[in-house]
Amino acid sequence: MERCGRVVPADETGIACGAEILREGGLVAFPTETVYGLGADATNDRAVAAIFAAKGRPRFNPLIVHVAGIAEAECLVEFSSAAAELARVFWPGPLTLVLPRTQRGGLSLLVSAGLDTVAVRSPAHPVARKLIATAGIPIAAPSANRSGHVSATRAQHVAEDLGPLVNLVLDGSATILGIESTVIGFEDGHAVLLRAGAVSREELEAIAGRVHSRAQSRISSPGQLVNHYAPHTRLRLNAAQVAPEEVLLAFGPKELSGARLTRNLSRTGNLREAAANLFAMLRELDALNAESIAVMPIPEDGLGEAINDRLQRAAAPRDVLRA
Ligand code: TXA
Ligand code: MG
Repeated sequence: MERCGRVVPADETGIACGAEILREGGLVAFPTETVYGLGADATNDRAVAAIFAAKGRPRFNPLIVHVAGIAEAECLVEFSSAAAELARVFWPGPLTLVLPRTQRGGLSLLVSAGLDTVAVRSPAHPVARKLIATAGIPIAAPSANRSGHVSATRAQHVAEDLGPLVNLVLDGSATILGIESTVIGFEDGHAVLLRAGAVSREELEAIAGRVHSRAQSRISSPGQLVNHYAPHTRLRLNAAQVAPEEVLLAFGPKELSGARLTRNLSRTGNLREAAANLFAMLRELDALNAESIAVMPIPEDGLGEAINDRLQRAAAPRDVLRA
């Protein structure tokens, strides 16, 4: 992959280089009007896995997908009339809409941590807009900081925080707003404020009528949201052997034998590849209505922690409320 230097000015050459790196599956940090984003091709599971590895998140949180505008978003998610109205008023800008994903969109399942919804936003910053247009792909981007650190509002902060974990940082000087976008979901047709941000509740209510708080909705915490997709089939973790009625989610070169069907997260034991495959393979195995899904042990290092977190949640008894 071509590297054009770590921090480069966000001029035409820099943006063209960033777009190429994104198309090749690399990571590019870029300014938006809110904070810097750590971008990757949202249709590429491996590129999205690299975001989680760089951020060092112990969990797979769903990410925001950045698009040019409503027309591009319509290929990826289903707009309700309420959502379309908000997008018409606030896009491009610091508003993120969580909407049901479409089948044909081709987005990575890892982008939304296996959920059936995707967060989309059309940023207003000229550098972000030019990068999206030049790359010609939807760009997944969380805030460009290590997990637990504050969001970055300058290219220098990104470089200090993420260093060589990012292929390129586009320096578009300090971001204007400095706080993240407002995240809105929808429940029974009305808007729910999932994260307060740069667009105020008052501004939203002037367009959408009453906006419900997260506490008033069933979607009460991001943690529970992440649990939304749970396989129907029981999961059996740390399997040391497998029964013929079972299907197997394997990891590494020493695959257990005897399962009805096996999918291997990574034959070479690569945790990034495993993260990239996790949600698609879980769904595929779940669809077979097997007795249970046996899961081979996954090491806890690097992305293994987030993979194990997700598997443990999926394996927990259904009647236990998981926060
Ligand atoms: O201003 C921003 O929003 C910045 C810039 C780079 O666009 N991005 C950002 O991304 O703050 P991140 O990953 O740090 O925060 C994404 C937020 C999280 O609160 C996450 O829970 C929520 O959006 N989110 C994403 N997808 C979701 C989904 N499918 N359902 C519910 N919440 C979702
Ligand atoms: Mg963040």
